[in-house]
Amino acid sequence: MAKRWLITGCSTGLGRALAARLAAEGERVLATARRPETLAELVAQYPDNLLSTALDVRDQAQCQAAVELALDTFGGIDILVNNAAYGQFGTLEEVSEDQLAAQFDTNVFGPWRLTRVVLPLWRAQRSGHAVFVSSVAGTVPFPGLAAYNASKAALEGLAESLAAEAGHLGVKVTILQPGGFATGYATALRLPEQRIEDYAPISNGTLGALRSMNDKQDVNPPEVFADVVWRLSGMQSPPLRLPVGRDSEAFLESAYDTRRREYDDVVKAGHHTVV
Ligand SMILES: NC(=O)c1ccc[n+]([C@@H]2O[C@H](COP(=O)([O-])OP(=O)(O)OC[C@H]3O[C@@H](n4cnc5c(N)ncnc54)[C@H](OP(=O)(O)O)[C@@H]3O)[C@@H](O)[C@H]2O)c1
Repeated sequence: MAKRWLITGCSTGLGRALAARLAAEGERVLATARRPETLAELVAQYPDNLLSTALDVRDQAQCQAAVELALDTFGGIDILVNNAAYGQFGTLEEVSEDQLAAQFDTNVFGPWRLTRVVLPLWRAQRSGHAVFVSSVAGTVPFPGLAAYNASKAALEGLAESLAAEAGHLGVKVTILQPGGFATGYATALRLPEQRIEDYAPISNGTLGALRSMNDKQDVNPPEVFADVVWRLSGMQSPPLRLPVGRDSEAFLESAYDTRRREYDDVVKAGHHTVV
């Protein structure tokens, strides 16, 4: 049976590719975007099973209205994909408090806001699947992306908490950890108001890599992301964490190995019980 989806951030990139793929598969999709006119072509292509609405995840009323629209049109939501986000470039010292707050408002508070609106429905129906689009940056801190790295780590903390709190109510949770994908991410990247020269050797590599990502031959196309999520939706027991894209594995494996080694060394040396 066709599942009912609500996806954020569908104007471009991964969200758009996912909405298009799901609609082509015959799923019922509420594709949302801050500018829903960007979805006109998709709506025209799939008039029977894809609709769009305005949703800025910073806006509580719009979160509420989008969920109500899904209820009125589809009778419910089976899968929520918290995809909308952007990257704030800058080191911890370069990023201003306003920029950090704005980064968290979209990347962390946004998914929290929308998921909270959906959860009462899922508690009532004793089922639902919350998908959170994180990044390998939630585990591997890229130098010069402090606010973004932190936002994805926080998002993963929220998602893991939800899994621990609502699993017994039939709510499934998956954290997606994409590597590098050719999308509008680099174009949407926000820069700090002020750069500090001392950090340039550390952060310029990251900025260059992000800006040239879409030119690389081997960068993952958004269709890979759509394919992985489509497959995920068919799993009886979806994983809590799912790396996405060819490069995600290498990033995560080395980070997990390092963490494990550090932990073992510290515990073996008895540093955690020093009196
Ligand atoms: N591309 C990568 O390499 C990569 C890697 C790891 C993780 N990710 C994650 O993948 C997700 C999708 O990003 P993408 O790569 O597809 O980038 P993208 O092409 O820039 O798409 C981001 C989407 O989020 C939307 N958005 C931003 N702020 C929003 C807000 N306040 N409310 C609602 N929508 C908002 C954008 O809408 P507008 O058009 O209105 O700005 C756009 O539709 C993000 O969570 C990102 O962190 C991407």
